[in-house]
Parts: sequence; structure tokens; C-alpha cells
Amino acid sequence: MVAHSPGPAAPRTGASIAIGPDRHSCPGSRSGRRRSVRTRRAGLPTGGTSNAGGPRVPTPPADPTNPRVGTVVVLAAGAGTRMRSRIPKVLHPVAGRPLLWHAVTAAAALQPDDLVAVVGHGREQVSAYLTGEHPGVRIAVQEVQLGTGHAVASALQDVPDPSGTVLVTYGDTPLLRPETLQALVRDHAAGGRAVTVLTAEVADPTGYGRIVRDADGAFAAIVEHRDATVEQRAVREINSGVYAFDGPTLARLLPQLTAANAQGERYLTDVIGLAVAEGAAVGTVSAEDPQDTEGVNDRVQLAAMSRALNDRIVREHQLAGVTVLDPATTWIHSGVTIGADTVIRPGSSIEAGTVIGEGCDIGPDTTLSACVVGDGATVLRSHCSGAHIGPDATVGPFTFLRPDARLLEGAKAGAYVEIKKSTIGAGSKVPHLSYVGDATVGTGANIGAGTITANYDGVGKYATTIGDHAFVGTNTTLIAPVTVADGAFVAAGSTITDDVPPGDLAVARGRQRNVDGWVTDRRPDSPAARAAAGQPTAPSPEVTTPEVTAAGEDHRP
Ligand code: UD1
Ligand code: CA
Repeated sequence: MVAHSPGPAAPRTGASIAIGPDRHSCPGSRSGRRRSVRTRRAGLPTGGTSNAGGPRVPTPPADPTNPRVGTVVVLAAGAGTRMRSRIPKVLHPVAGRPLLWHAVTAAAALQPDDLVAVVGHGREQVSAYLTGEHPGVRIAVQEVQLGTGHAVASALQDVPDPSGTVLVTYGDTPLLRPETLQALVRDHAAGGRAVTVLTAEVADPTGYGRIVRDADGAFAAIVEHRDATVEQRAVREINSGVYAFDGPTLARLLPQLTAANAQGERYLTDVIGLAVAEGAAVGTVSAEDPQDTEGVNDRVQLAAMSRALNDRIVREHQLAGVTVLDPATTWIHSGVTIGADTVIRPGSSIEAGTVIGEGCDIGPDTTLSACVVGDGATVLRSHCSGAHIGPDATVGPFTFLRPDARLLEGAKAGAYVEIKKSTIGAGSKVPHLSYVGDATVGTGANIGAGTITANYDGVGKYATTIGDHAFVGTNTTLIAPVTVADGAFVAAGSTITDDVPPGDLAVARGRQRNVDGWVTDRRPDSPAARAAAGQPTAPSPEVTTPEVTAAGEDHRP
């Protein structure tokens, strides 16, 4: 199975290549102008071929055109009060991954020497997440949230002498792409500045710090919304809160911050004011896509960011050769790989950890979570989690594949079938209404409708083995542990408690006995008796008793 790599720079080498960073798509700005030069449109890429939060694995080799980044500080200590949640804000998921995953993954793509996350509110949970999922990330604790400047100081307290570039980002901006950060860093290095601010032009700048410029259009200051005048509030160019700093300058200015402002916080933005005041070079880079800089503060924004990220992800898969019939109802998580010419039908969710091959047909109304799907497979209206669906296998409709369900090449799991922790061999079929758990099925076997592997006795789980080309008749219960050997048959309606040797037929059910004339004797003059005697069967009052109805009358058409 070959996974598809959408970016022109991403080599097509195998299933581990997913939509990832395109480190070559971003021509560096070479604006080497003086201090306060307005460096807008600094060569930021338009996106389209590159990642929307894909797993950046494997990490591409360091690109010499990308300047070295000493430290990336990801701020994630805030309370996130407006989420009204027990879960720390940065752990709320977007596109199947916590907000913080997106921030850390984008930062990690720059391959900094030091990647540090500042945690505070909910720090036990946030730290546990980072330790588990991002062990390379250093954790700095900000005990009390005294402002963004104080947060960065907390991150750098163990790095008293930071050299090189220090990048500051937020843990709650899931659409911030590595290429946007790279463009910022490249422009910062090319400009030889003390600080470069990532800005964005937004429709509604309420709440953001505004970029104030002088008469020549050069950067003058960042003014917080609360501290801004009416004229300043009309400015739609905002401070994204993402910056590239010269490390030594940052370390020197941070201790000079005070809390003399509307919020009584140590503003990181004041470092920029101090840099301007001492005549250091400060410039800006405008984000090509303002969404890159948008943060999540409440669940309305969480949904909006989910939508926006999904739009990006779906678009990238489409551009890479995947047919997504209805982007509005198709949700694809970050890091999913989908091969070319696969069709995703409406109402489907392709969740984190899923790898889909080429030429597959998925949906409608299908969820695949952490599944591997081989080339040419079909999954129709089904829910699959942790399953392996082999090439040309068919699943559905209404099939439930649970963790470690493995369908080998050309196998079938049909309607109303549940499979858990079982291998279904190549070409084997479980076509209808079955439960298969803890089983190994060989090749070319047929498991009849209504077969149940009775794998659980209330205490332990037991294995069932079904051999190559075995045939299990319908409505069979296989009481594990039990083996139906190669080429063995099981008669329909059997309850199998003992192993069936190769090539034998097992019949394990009560033998049929016909009681001669029973209906005529016990139900005389009933429609059944008349039908049995070949007489007209008009209804008579005495046969509408519940007993007779319950005995099998079916009034459905
Ligand atoms: C900040 C900027 C503002 C910018 C906006 C962009 C300052 C003073 N202002 O404002 O110019 O337009 O971001 O979103 O920097 N945090 C900590 N520790 C703290 C305080 C904050 O880790 O003590 C983290 C928060 O978790 C959050 C980020 O820093 O992720 C921003 O903090 P927040 O207080 O929301 O800043 P804004 O008021 O939005
Ligand atoms: Ca604030």
C-alpha cells in the first residue's frame, strides 16, 4: 500500500509520509532594510500544497535557507476562563488533536535547539499531556499568571543567556503553520532586527493589541485594546502575539518590564516598546492568512477554528488527488494520510492515526479512527476503530470493527457484523450478523450469518481458530476455546464445544422429530389444520387466541 504525499517537496517514500511541512515552498524575504521598515508581504506562502496540521514526520533535514532558531516559547499558562471547562483550554481538541499539539507541532517543525512550553493553569494535566505526547518539550511553570512578559521570563529563567533567535507563540492558535513561522524567522534574520512582530489584518480587531505606525508607515508601537485610544482602536492591523526576538536583547529587556497598564500585567509587548525606545531595529511581517494567528478563547471560536482547519485539511487532500464529495460534512483530522483516487463520501469522519490507501471507497456516514485501510478497500456506512482493513477488503454496511480487527486482502465483513481482536484471512467472508472476537480465521473461509464466537465466560477471554477454507453454517455458536480446522464444515445451527478435525463435518444440534398429525389432533378446525387438509382457510372466532397468534402468525407484508 502506498500512501500519497501531497507536497511537491515531500518524497513519496511510503506510508509514513503524510501531509507535512513543505520547507521549500516559502521563498525567503530578503528585505535587509533598516529599523522600523515595514516588511509586509514578506514572502509568506499561500498554502495549498502544504500541511494543515499533518504529522510532521519524518522531520525533513535542516534547510540551510532557514536560519537556526535557538528557542521557541509556547505560552500555555492562561486560565482559558471563557471555555467554562474543567479541561485546560490548550487540551481541547481541534481536528482530533489538542490545541497544544498544533502549537508544539508547528514549533517543532522549526527544529529549535530548545522548545519550551509555559504552563500554569491546569498545569498537572497540561504537563502530563506534554510529558506523554511531546517528551522533547521542556516544561516551564509559571506559578501565577502575571502577564505574557512574565510568562516568557519564566520560560527563559533556566536560559539566562539565550543566544540566537527566540520565537514566542501561543498554545491556542491551531491554524498557525510552520511555514508562517519560518517566514517570520527568515525575515527576522534577513532584517537583522531586535524584534520582528507577526501581524495580521483582521475584520474585527476587538481585543487585540493594535499595530501603531508612524507617518511613513514604519512600526511605532503595539497598544493593547484596553489601553488604546478611539483612533487606535480603528486600526485593523493587529499584533498576533507571535514574535521573533534577538535572544540577548530579549533577556536584557525582560527584567525591565513593569505592570503599569490597564491589566496590571507584565506585557511582553512592552519589550517591543523598550526596544524601540533604545533605537533597536523592530519590524513586522504580515501573515498571509490571518487565520494563522487566530486564537481560541471560547467554544464558539473552538468550533470556528475546527471548521477552518478542516477546510484546509480537506482542501489539501483534494489537491493531492482525493475525491471528497462533500467537504461540509467530511471531517478529516490532522495527520491523516489518504491515497490518490480514494473517494470519501458525505458524513464521514477520518480520525487521527488513520492511513488510507489509494483507490478506496469510504462512506457515506463512516468513521475511521486510527485505522489502516489498504488500496482498493471499500468501507460503507460503518464505524471502525483501531482496525486494519486490507487491500480490496470490503466492510459494511453497518459494520463495527473494533481494535485489532484485521481483515486481510479481499476479506469481507458485511452487514451488522462486529469484529474485535481477530484476523480474518485473505478472501474470507463474514457476510452478515455475526460477532467475531479473539478469533483467527484462515484464508477462503466462510462464516455464516448469525455466527457468534462465544469468547467470554464472564471471567476470561478465549480464542477461536477457524482454518483455511473452513465453512461455518449459519446461526452457529463457537464456544471458545475451540478450533474448526482447515477444510472443516460446521452444520447450521450448531453449538460447537469441541474441536472439529480437518475435513470433518460437525453437527451439534438436537435432531429433528416430526410428530405425525399433531395439528389435526391438537388444533382441530384451525386455519392451519384446514390448510394442512387442503380446505379453505377462512378465519373462525375460536382461533384468534393469543396462544395461536404467538405461535408464529406474522402479519407483516
Ligand atoms: C496578547 C497581546 C496582544 C495580542 C494578543 C494576540 C500582550 C500584552 N498582549 O493579548 O497584543 O494582540 O495577545 O492574541 O501580550 N499567557 C501566559 N501567562 C500569562 C499571560 C498569558 O502563559 O501570564 C498566555 C495565555 O495562555 C495565552 C497568551 O499568553 O495563550 C496570551 O495571553 P492573553 O492574556 O490572552 O493575551 P491577550 O490579552 O490576548
Ligand atoms: Ca490578557
